[in-house]
Amino acid sequence: MGDDHRGSPRSDLKAQQEAAREPQSGAPPRIKGPILCFVGPPGVGKTSLGQSIARAMNRKFVRISLGGVRDEAEIRGHRRTYIGAIPGRIVQALKQAGAINPVFMLDEIDKITSGGFQGDPAAALLEVLDPAQNHSFRDHYLEINVDLSRVLFIATANQLGTIHPALLDRMEIISLAGYTEDEKLHIARRYLIPRQLEENGLTAGMVTIEDGAVGRMIAKYTREAGVRGLERQIGAVARKVAARVAGAIPVPVGAGGNGPPTVTAANLTEYLGPPKVHDEVSFRVSRPGVATGLAWTESGGDVLFVEASLLPDGHGNIILTGQLGNVMQESARAAVSHIRAATKTLGVSGDFLNSHDLHIHVPAGAIPKDGPSAGVTMATAIVSALKNQTVREDVAMTGEITLSGLVLPVGGIREKALAARRHGIKTLVLPARNEPDLAELSPEVKKSLRFVPVETLEQVLAAALPT
Ligand SMILES: Nc1ncnc2c1ncn2[C@@H]1O[C@H](COP(=O)(O)OP(=O)(O)OP(=O)(O)O)[C@@H](O)[C@H]1O
Ligand SMILES: [Mg+2]
Repeated sequence: MGDDHRGSPRSDLKAQQEAAREPQSGAPPRIKGPILCFVGPPGVGKTSLGQSIARAMNRKFVRISLGGVRDEAEIRGHRRTYIGAIPGRIVQALKQAGAINPVFMLDEIDKITSGGFQGDPAAALLEVLDPAQNHSFRDHYLEINVDLSRVLFIATANQLGTIHPALLDRMEIISLAGYTEDEKLHIARRYLIPRQLEENGLTAGMVTIEDGAVGRMIAKYTREAGVRGLERQIGAVARKVAARVAGAIPVPVGAGGNGPPTVTAANLTEYLGPPKVHDEVSFRVSRPGVATGLAWTESGGDVLFVEASLLPDGHGNIILTGQLGNVMQESARAAVSHIRAATKTLGVSGDFLNSHDLHIHVPAGAIPKDGPSAGVTMATAIVSALKNQTVREDVAMTGEITLSGLVLPVGGIREKALAARRHGIKTLVLPARNEPDLAELSPEVKKSLRFVPVETLEQVLAAALPT
C-alpha cells in the first residue's frame, strides 16, 4: 500500500491513463457503500491506504485535513454577502479532483475543534456523510445543490474518543492497530528501503542493508506502532552512505573496504549512533512495589509502571501522584479499599494503613494519564509492596478492578498486546471478558505471548506474584 513509485515513469503513465478515463463515459456507477473510518496510531498507513484504494479503483484522490477546522463555513462555504467569501473545502476539493466520484479523504476527523464563531463543523459534516442527504449538499457560496452521493468518503482518526458521536454513528470503523516486527521488516524491504535509497540518490547496488540491521533498527532505534520512525532511520543510513559515495566522509570502520558498504546489525551504530530505546521493564520492576501495566494511547499502546510504597509513621493517608486523572485516582482508591477488605485472602497483614501512609505513583509525571484500565496494576503494585516481593518482570497486565476484587474488561487489547511485545513481555494478564478480542490478533502475536485471562485479583496475583 506504500505510495512508492511517486514520480516514476510508471506512475506518470498511470496518471495519463487515468486522465484519459476521467470523466468516464456514461454515468459513473453509484456506490451506496458505507463511509469508512480508519482509526489507528500515527504512521500505520491510514492515509496511504486511502490513496491505494483510489489507485485500485482508478479514481481521483483528494484529501482535506480537518485538523483545527473550527467553523462550519470552512466545510460549507461563506455566503457571498461576506467580503472574501469562498466555497467550502468540500467543494474546493471536488474542483481540485475534477471529478464527481473521487475517493475523498477526510483526514484527522478526530481533530475538528468546535467552538468557532459560526457553528460546529461537525454538524456540517453530518450532512456530508449521510448517504440519505448528501445527494443535495448545499454550499453557501455556490447556492446550488452538489451531488456527493458518488463520492467515496474515507475518514481517518487517531482516536475515537473525540469524534462527534453522531458522526461516529455514520461511519464504519476499521481499526489499524500497528505492525509487528515481522510486518515492519517486510514493509521496510519492499517499500521503505527502495524509496529512501531513491530519495537519497542511491541505486540498489550501492549499499546492502541486511535484515539483521533492519531488525535492530526496529527494536533498538524506534518504538512505535507505525513505520514513520523506521523510515527516518533508514533515511539516515541512506544519507550516510550517500555522503560516503560522494567522498564527503571516510569509510566507516569495518564496512567492507572499497566495495559497496554492507549495513549489518553489528556495524549499525556507526551509521546511527548508540541505540535510542532501552529495555526498561526488567530494570524498573527490580524492586518490590512496582508493577507493569499496559496503556492505550493515541500513538498506539505503551507500557506504564505503577509504583506503590508504604511510608512509616503515617496516619493512613493515601497519596496519589503522577498526573492521574479522576478515573485513575478513583480506581486507585478502589484497589486500596479492596485490598483492605480482603487482606486475609490476599495474604497481607490487615492493619497496613494503621500507622503508615500509602503512596501510589505513576512515573512520567509530565504525561497526564487517565482511564480505569490500570486498576489491576495498581492493586498488584500495592500487594507487591505489602509483601515486599518483586513482580515477575515478564508479566504485564491490564483490567479495571471493582471494589469486590473482580476484573472488568477494558479496551485496546490489540494495541496493548503489540506494545507488550515491543517491550519484551512474555505474559499478558487480561480480563477474561476480553478473551474474544484475542481472535483479532495475528498468529505471530498470539504465538509470542502467553495470555492469562482472569476474573479476580487473586488470579492476577497468582500470575504476577507467584509464591
Ligand atoms: N503497510 C505499509 N506498506 C508500505 N508503506 C507503509 C505501510 N504502512 C505505512 N507505510 C508508510 O508509512 C508512512 C506513513 O503512513 P501514513 O502517512 O499513511 O500514516 P497515517 O496512518 O496516515 O498516520 P497519521 O495518523 O500520522 O496521519 C508512509 O510513508 C507510508 O508509505
Ligand atoms: Mg495520515
